[in-house]
Amino acid sequence: MPSGASPLARPIAVVGAGFLGAPVAAALAATAGAGDPPVLATTRSGTWPNGHVPGGIELRPLDVAALSPPDIAAVLAGARALVVCYAPGKQQDRRELYVEGTRRLLAAAATLPLTRLVYTSSTSALPDRDAWLDDDCPDWPDEPRGRVQREAEELVRDTCTGHDLPWTILRLGGLYGPGRELFRLYRGAGDDGVLSGDGMQPTNLVHRDDAVQAVLAALTLAPDERGVVNVVDDDHTPRREIFARLAALAGRPPPRWERPAGPAAVGKRVGNARLKTLLRVVLRHPSHTPASP
Ligand SMILES: NC(=O)c1ccc[n+]([C@@H]2O[C@H](COP(=O)([O-])OP(=O)(O)OC[C@H]3O[C@@H](n4cnc5c(N)ncnc54)[C@H](OP(=O)(O)O)[C@@H]3O)[C@@H](O)[C@H]2O)c1
Repeated sequence: MPSGASPLARPIAVVGAGFLGAPVAAALAATAGAGDPPVLATTRSGTWPNGHVPGGIELRPLDVAALSPPDIAAVLAGARALVVCYAPGKQQDRRELYVEGTRRLLAAAATLPLTRLVYTSSTSALPDRDAWLDDDCPDWPDEPRGRVQREAEELVRDTCTGHDLPWTILRLGGLYGPGRELFRLYRGAGDDGVLSGDGMQPTNLVHRDDAVQAVLAALTLAPDERGVVNVVDDDHTPRREIFARLAALAGRPPPRWERPAGPAAVGKRVGNARLKTLLRVVLRHPSHTPASP
């Protein structure tokens, strides 16, 4: 828990109880006291990821791309803290959810008795340049996917600031963990397949357990702590090396790349200083590089 931390304000609502949001809601329910209200969790469908809703969680359907702000507020009525964890999947338009859906959610949030809003964004909101990028990097990415994420971040920051609502934006690296194992990154490399590029871009990943830790810590920040926190692990080993090790572990030859490896990794390395100094997260999975066989 961060120093000078505030107690968790309950009830807490988790909007988007998917790969990350579901274990966040479960962890919040597990730490609830006897008299605490249930954690309110929502999915678009109103169903829990693997069927069984854990105890201490009240699940409701919510589609922020379809409902008006008053209707969203009615679903989240009474929430004192809000965690936003939705993602569009393959079916929804990214801008419609991340920007327009978030606009509606924020309009609803402004009418709730909230003490903190935690919004999960992505390191794709940072520019792709060959450098270390810290939590306060002012520059936008060029590519549209990241620009949508950055636009949503700005909306969260500006709207919450306008309503004096304490906010935290968690910029998550690529998530892996149970059900989304690291070897999935390896897909696309068939036995004879050639992967594009040279695989020498640094990786920026985070294990789901550590992303959950970051959300829980952000919920207890003191009210005057507002800002962006990059949530990545310490390991930026390029994909080329990771894929080679995964292949060796699977008894396969290393994947072939379109281009030979350059002398060094080139690309963005997202720094995680504030994750440690402000949120005081001690990473359970500081490295994602598999051990050699
Ligand atoms: N996955 C990654 O590698 C990664 C990397 C960086 C950042 N992030 C960020 O991490 C957060 C969580 O990602 P995730 O991988 O846990 O996502 P996920 O597993 O795809 O879960 C998304 C959740 O959002 C809900 N949802 C989808 N559309 C919605 C809508 N229109 N209104 C309300 N809820 C909606 C889904 O409900 P249904 O299941 O019912 O549709 C589901 O509960 C997102 O903010 C994402 O941008 C993820």
